[in-house]
Amino acid sequence: MSSENTHHQVSVDLMKKEDLQEILAIERISFPTPWTEGMFLDELKTEHAQCLVVKIEMNGETMIAAYIIFWFVADEVHLHNLAVRSEFRRQGLAYSIMSLMKGIAAQAGIKRQTLEVRESNLGAINLYRKCGFVVKGKRPQYYTDTCEDALVMWAEGQEEEQHG
Ligand SMILES: CC(C)(COP(=O)(O)OP(=O)(O)OC[C@H]1O[C@@H](n2cnc3c(N)ncnc32)[C@H](O)[C@@H]1OP(=O)(O)O)[C@@H](O)C(=O)NCCC(=O)NCCS
Repeated sequence: MSSENTHHQVSVDLMKKEDLQEILAIERISFPTPWTEGMFLDELKTEHAQCLVVKIEMNGETMIAAYIIFWFVADEVHLHNLAVRSEFRRQGLAYSIMSLMKGIAAQAGIKRQTLEVRESNLGAINLYRKCGFVVKGKRPQYYTDTCEDALVMWAEGQEEEQHG
């Protein structure tokens, strides 16, 4: 996937080891308990993990703007990680990459998607609702760093997107 205007070009690539230092910098500002390099390396070695990066080329410089990791588990997609570099937020990038995940899953014949999200992460919860996910459950004190509950969200493929 790529799109272009006079100022920048956006592309989606498979995540590589060489991307990890840039990804770890985004990870550290995005999460209270960031993933370690070892955790990303494990994902890169996992056969059913899909690890993608969004790259933006601006004025001859290419940088990672976002990344997503999801697993195919039987007939379900499990979202494991998603973050957008702070200067590229609120421009529809996460929505686009979630749509890409849905499209890749659909090509594999998979419609059911699930994820866990911190109850306090209202931006992400809004994003997921916009992508057709609904809250189906809660895992009490799932996040051991803050003892926060996780909301378990599912998209079954037939929900309408919620706007607004
Ligand atoms: C959550 C995150 C991935 C959203 O990325 P993004 O590219 O800014 O999201 P988008 O621009 O595609 O937003 C799509 C919709 O999500 C919702 N949304 C996104 N960020 C939001 C925010 N900060 N507050 C409220 N709603 C938000 C809105 O409904 C938005 O649609 P709108 O802009 O038309 O109102 C990004 O803020 C991020 O990386 N956060 C830190 C990491 C994280 O929390 N990841 C999710 C872990 S479960």
